Amino acid sequence: MASNVPIESNYDRESELKAFDDSKSGVKGFVDAGLTKIPRFFHHPRSIINEPKSSTLQTQVDIPIIDLKETNVRAKIVENVRYAAENWGFFQIINHGIPQRVLDEMIDGARGFHEMETEEKIKYYSRDYQKKFSYTSNFRLFTSDAATWSDTFMSVMAPQPPQPEELPPICRNIITEYSDQIMKLGFTLLELLSEALGLKPDHLKSLGCGQGLFILGHYYPPCPEPELTFGANYHTDSGFLTIVLQDSLGGLQVLHQKQWVNVSPLPGALVLITNNKFKSVHHRVLAQKRIPRISVAAFLRPFHEGIEPVVYRPIKELVSEENPCVYKDTSLDEFVRVQKNAEGTSGLAPFKLDP
Ligand code: OGA
Ligand code: NI
Repeated sequence: MASNVPIESNYDRESELKAFDDSKSGVKGFVDAGLTKIPRFFHHPRSIINEPKSSTLQTQVDIPIIDLKETNVRAKIVENVRYAAENWGFFQIINHGIPQRVLDEMIDGARGFHEMETEEKIKYYSRDYQKKFSYTSNFRLFTSDAATWSDTFMSVMAPQPPQPEELPPICRNIITEYSDQIMKLGFTLLELLSEALGLKPDHLKSLGCGQGLFILGHYYPPCPEPELTFGANYHTDSGFLTIVLQDSLGGLQVLHQKQWVNVSPLPGALVLITNNKFKSVHHRVLAQKRIPRISVAAFLRPFHEGIEPVVYRPIKELVSEENPCVYKDTSLDEFVRVQKNAEGTSGLAPFKLDP
């Protein structure tokens, strides 16, 4: 526990966490109950919330925007992707071809799920991640130092899609339609990223980077004390690529040159197997006081290790005597296990080889 939080003898954190989990109604349940002070287990050390990085926050820095129809000169788009992936590990995409209707319906579907009658919704509450669809609050409730102000559903869509009846009726069709669209966009991005690495367009796909897909539908309820917690703490993602769809509220920030930069709506990306050539960006979501914020994050990554575990390692074409491996080999199981305990730090740091 953070050292700057005073120790109260009558505070039983474990039982509070358990009671919260047993309620199955998530953070939204607290807000519905009219809570005006957030429970102690959501408190993050003030030193992290108010760290110097925040006070030097710049909103004027422009996050790269990739226009997939900008020009017919593919080399130009590839160059833009290379620049963004090397310098930011993040970009916004416009003219991506996913109809606005599908984006709107996906946000509405995610909102609809989280705003469903509690009795209906809690049927899906589970920490059994063998299920194709589950809803929970804080994947790391029992392992992280402090909880965050959000609820999330997870839907594992590929390589084996769920049976329709495994998905809740309120967002069943749109999750499936959105996933199809995201897979297509994901393949386009994998091609562009391959080319940006100087590889053949199908290189990342041939390594299996496009085989797995799972979707997280986040709900960040309004928070009575946003200065004490986060919507999502500082982290890097675990997949090859994440495409984020957010509503119009904002709150997502990416770390760039030691400053937190606000991301105003649309998709983003990161890659971890390029031997540091492309960045895996640190990002977080601020808690806020006004209205719920909805976002949908699509991860190109298998959710479970396959029967034959794949070894993840720097792309061999990018490694040479001058550019030796920066990270050690790992498996999906190991990577996810180590990441679980790395919230608030870099997910890649534990895999760094000695210089
Ligand atoms: C995530 C994530 C950002 C958001 O799901 O890993 O960073 O805007 N989501 O919700
Ligand atoms: Ni993330």
